[in-house]
Amino acid sequence: MSIVFLNNEFVAPENALISPMDRGFLFGEGIYEVIPCYRNKFIGLQAHLNRLSDGLNALDIKSPYSDDKWQSLCHQLIEQNNGDNLAIYIQVTRGSSPVRHHAFNQDSTPTIYAFTFEIPTAPIAEKKQAGAYKVSTHQDLRWQRCHIKSTSLLGNVLHFQHGINEGNKETILFNKNNELTEASASNVFVVKNNTIITPPLDHQILPGITRHILLDILRKHSNYIVQERRVTHHEVLNADEVWLTSSTKEVAPVIAIDNTPVASGKVGDIWLAAQTLFSQYKNQY
Ligand code: PDD
Repeated sequence: MSIVFLNNEFVAPENALISPMDRGFLFGEGIYEVIPCYRNKFIGLQAHLNRLSDGLNALDIKSPYSDDKWQSLCHQLIEQNNGDNLAIYIQVTRGSSPVRHHAFNQDSTPTIYAFTFEIPTAPIAEKKQAGAYKVSTHQDLRWQRCHIKSTSLLGNVLHFQHGINEGNKETILFNKNNELTEASASNVFVVKNNTIITPPLDHQILPGITRHILLDILRKHSNYIVQERRVTHHEVLNADEVWLTSSTKEVAPVIAIDNTPVASGKVGDIWLAAQTLFSQYKNQY
């Protein structure tokens, strides 16, 4: 049976009860993280906790725990829930207030909820076993603060569902200027003539931890040219390779966009090199 964490207590899921006046429920006013853990080894734990802290600051919610306490909570949750391949979901909301009012309630106590869930085994750097993606595209209709990992995910959910409705597994998004932003639940990389390119960090994309780790590894351990710059719609459709990155996917190759193959429609050599490096180095972050 799984054990979850709610407000300083480890409890059975059915005993994790929150108020319907919680502002996370009423307004989607919270921050979350998803942190992968394979055989008791977290990937990017401190980086995820730093981003959690940044998100809470952006919402003017005082982080309820120190870094040490967050770290030990994560380790305890993994210990209490068996499994080689688990991710931890952490959510912190502003908490509940007696009345529904848009203004922050300065007195409310944040609600802290965390649980583990099973994830597939760590991606393997092998072309035949790569979880290749076919994706849809759409204009990015989300808000202007996509750098905040907010639990208000309706925009992302609708974009994700658009891809599902078209028989695909993700949706790649473009801003009004037809520039790539990210995908509904992943960051995006393109490869052209041995150069690896991803959009720069700004309010249009989530500062993905996998994106950060991958950029760092590529710069330190490969000879590929790596660029963080604007990527046009035309560049995406004419790329040699396109990848999605996220904590549970790591580096996932995209083989078709809107039913048109990416280059040859096969998993690329540079993806193989990138996922190989990622598999080798990820535990160090
Ligand atoms: N999603 N961009 C968006 C919009 C995301 O939701 C995610 C992750 C990423 C990749 O971030 P990271 O590498 O830190 O996982 C980029 C998570 C996994 C989710 O919502 O479940």
